[in-house]
Amino acid sequence: MSPKIDLLNSLSEIEQSALIRISEAVSPEDLEALKISLLGRKEGQLSQILKRIGVVKSSERKIVGAEANRIKKVLTVALGTAQTNLETANKDMSSFFDVTLPGREQWKGSEHPINQVIDEVWQIFRSMGFTRVRGPEIDSEWYNFEALNTPLDHPAADQQDTLYLKNSGLLRSHTSPVQIRTLEKYSPPIRVLAPGMVYRRDTYDATHTPAFHQIEGLVVDEGITFVDFKATLSEFSKRFWGSGTKVRFRPSFFPFTEPSAEVDVKRIVIRDGQKVETDWIEVMGAGMVDPNVLENVGYDPERYTGFAFGMGPGRMALLKYGIPDLRMFFQNDVRFLSQLLHGQIR
Ligand code: DAH
Repeated sequence: MSPKIDLLNSLSEIEQSALIRISEAVSPEDLEALKISLLGRKEGQLSQILKRIGVVKSSERKIVGAEANRIKKVLTVALGTAQTNLETANKDMSSFFDVTLPGREQWKGSEHPINQVIDEVWQIFRSMGFTRVRGPEIDSEWYNFEALNTPLDHPAADQQDTLYLKNSGLLRSHTSPVQIRTLEKYSPPIRVLAPGMVYRRDTYDATHTPAFHQIEGLVVDEGITFVDFKATLSEFSKRFWGSGTKVRFRPSFFPFTEPSAEVDVKRIVIRDGQKVETDWIEVMGAGMVDPNVLENVGYDPERYTGFAFGMGPGRMALLKYGIPDLRMFFQNDVRFLSQLLHGQIR
């Protein structure tokens, strides 16, 4: 290889590797060191090469010298650009990060108080073998009323109470239609819990809201009796409202149950450091499934019996946790919503 080619090859190698090293530099100090090792007058790699130019024929020295100058320019420009880039990057970082600021707390979501109550109720029924189901919030007169043995001229079906949709259908006024859908979809033994939203033309005040939650329950099988009904709901009531709670089944009427009952509880609470009994508080509507309901979905009421119940977790939260106003559940005050009602870490 001629000395000229040899030197040109070395120059080319220096150029390639220098450009890579410049692009990899992470600090101005790196760049300064690179500049000296590449372009330094005595020890720089380019100078080292040019020191050997004597071995090249004098007629060809010009070519090698010109190439060395070209590379020197290229590297000078590359070093300058890298320098500016590093400076602006550093400037951006320092205005972005204030390392003296205290760390921010992680923003954690929390379970809505109503969902906490629903979950408490669910945990109890789950331990008794119930499954969780749900149904649509937009439903028909058949599911919301007729299949539940409620004729359309019943006061509950009145325009006053139910929110009808423009063309057809309605917003369910209770979770009981999920009973019908469950009976259609599954076969006995049926033990389900169906929490969900319901809608009524109602006032918006401390104890009423036009949209609210209900929790429906349904048990249907061969041989389900009034004893199962009373035992299950008594057990639930004691577990939810406290072990000293008294439970009372008061005769009532619902179109879809026969006989029907309202469940009242008398709780033991601490007031001024004293254990006291509350008054009777109504907490649930319930009853044995009316044979007409079973017939409406093709079940033989001679063979199958069952019981159903419905409760309002919003009202239960008011009673159990002393929340003064139902509207607090809808006002989105994070200080209220992020509370743990149950006082336990979830
Ligand atoms: N659906 C009733 C209501 O909205 C509550 C209810 C009462 C549900 C008795 C039931 C039941 O399942 O058996 O007022």
